[in-house]
Amino acid sequence: MNWFSRLSFKTRILSIVSLAIFICSAIAISGFLYFNNKEMHRGIIEKSRAIHLRLEAATHYVATQAGLPPIIERMKLKYKPGEEINKEDREAVLKQVPIVAAMKIGEKDADKDFYEFRVFSDEPRKKENQAQSDEMVVFNKFLKDETLTEYIDDNDKAITVYRPVRLKKDHGCMTCHGDPQTSPWSNGKDILGYKMENWPDNKLHGVFAVKTDLKKFVAMEESDNHLSPSTFLVIAIILGGALGIAIAAAIIKKPISTLNEIVASLDNSGTQVNSTSVQIASTSEELAQASHEQASSIQETSSAIDEISAMINSNADNALKSSASSQDSLHIAEKGKEVIGQMIVAIEDINVSNTEIMNQIENMNNEIKNIVAIIQDIGAKTTVINDIVFQTKLLSFNASVEAARAGEAGKGFAVVAEEVGNLAAMSGKAALEISQMLDKSVKTVEDIVVTSKSSIEKLVHQGKLKVETGTKIARESEIVLNEIAASINEVSKMIAEISSASQEQASGVNEITKAIGLLDQVNQQNSSTSSQSANAASELAAQASQLSEQVKRLVLIIEGA
Ligand code: HEC
Repeated sequence: MNWFSRLSFKTRILSIVSLAIFICSAIAISGFLYFNNKEMHRGIIEKSRAIHLRLEAATHYVATQAGLPPIIERMKLKYKPGEEINKEDREAVLKQVPIVAAMKIGEKDADKDFYEFRVFSDEPRKKENQAQSDEMVVFNKFLKDETLTEYIDDNDKAITVYRPVRLKKDHGCMTCHGDPQTSPWSNGKDILGYKMENWPDNKLHGVFAVKTDLKKFVAMEESDNHLSPSTFLVIAIILGGALGIAIAAAIIKKPISTLNEIVASLDNSGTQVNSTSVQIASTSEELAQASHEQASSIQETSSAIDEISAMINSNADNALKSSASSQDSLHIAEKGKEVIGQMIVAIEDINVSNTEIMNQIENMNNEIKNIVAIIQDIGAKTTVINDIVFQTKLLSFNASVEAARAGEAGKGFAVVAEEVGNLAAMSGKAALEISQMLDKSVKTVEDIVVTSKSSIEKLVHQGKLKVETGTKIARESEIVLNEIAASINEVSKMIAEISSASQEQASGVNEITKAIGLLDQVNQQNSSTSSQSANAASELAAQASQLSEQVKRLVLIIEGA
């Protein structure tokens, strides 16, 4: 078959078409011959049956004409019993015998219709009608089965259709083949001088055979048509085959050139696909590599985010803790504020007390001033006493002077005047001493007042200053504590904000983690997809090279070697 593969596709198709036509023709011829033969056999059988029917119809017709009894009567008048009936009369009698008429018709058309007619019997009147051994086989079939009306012997050489011939009383058969007692000549013989067989009604006497020789029949058909069907078929097939091949060549001309173009473009595409798939493979590998790197960076990002998440969590924790401690601080600051408030109240109380003390001291000083005034009053009174003493002294001096003038008479008086002078001097002296003492005590009191006042004032002043300082400090402390409380509040708020921000951060980080997880998944998918596509691409490359090999083979097939 090597030579076949060297042929071009077109030649091959055409040779295949030719071969197919040849094979089809062979099948068609044999099929035609088979069916034709079968048809011919059936036709022959039908024709033979028609002949049989014609014979039977003739038998029936002649029998129903009932022409036999009058001619028998005529013969009986014309001839004596045992006398030989001349040929003409014999013919005339036989003409009226239904079966003979039938046999005549059968023989008459035999040549014209290319068949052989024969009647045979086991006990014939006519010697040549004696059944042969093979005919006896058929005869016995009909003998055995009374219902059998037809037997066909269909072999390669001839087709014979057999039908039984039975004697029928109403067909007048018994007139010659029946009871010898009914002999027209009363000698046991029939009208033609044959011995009557004494056969019963419906007895199988003979068999009609219509035989067609196939060779002769075919020859007849061919001579009729001048051209045998098989010859016609061969010629038709040769012409049809040639036409078919020509049509096939015309039909495949365009497809073949299209095929050539397709093959060329396939070859081209195959090469392109090959190079493209190689490119795809390398791109996919790069992609896979990139995906791999991306996966590792995602991994790193993920762990970083885990750390961040941990930090945020601890931030949130710390914020919570700070919030708690700032709350505590706030409480403490508020308590401090309360205490300072109490302290300020206490200091103000002290201040009030100080003022009261000052007032008391002032009162006391005033009392002391009163005392001094009283003392000074006493001093003034002492001056009066001094004046009285001076005048007394003056008076005593005047009295002594008077007493001295009065001389002796005045001597006693002079002594009293002296005494009064002495007493006045003594009172003067005492008044002086009192005055001095008063001055001294006033001075002492004043000194005491001045000293105590200044020292008390100093002390009170210092106390006042200290109270003021304390108050100021307490106020400042309050302000500071207020500020502290406010800032603690701020801090607390901020911590709360930090806490909520931390929570938001945490949830954000959660989202990010999820997103990264998703990203990781996608990336893994990408990675697997890209490695799959790399595999697919290399597979594609392999297939592309296979394809181009196949295309080369296709080129070889279509263009031939
Ligand atoms: C007039 C008398 C006559 C009658 C009626 C008659 N036959 Fe015959 N038959 C003959 C004679 C005579 C022959 C011999 C013919 C020959 O020699 O050609 C014969 C031959 C036959 C044969 C051929 C076999 C053989 O013996 O040689 C058959 C079959 C036959 N007859 C059947 C019938 C049947 C069926 C009928 C009734 C429809 C009938 N015949 C009526 C006289 C008669």
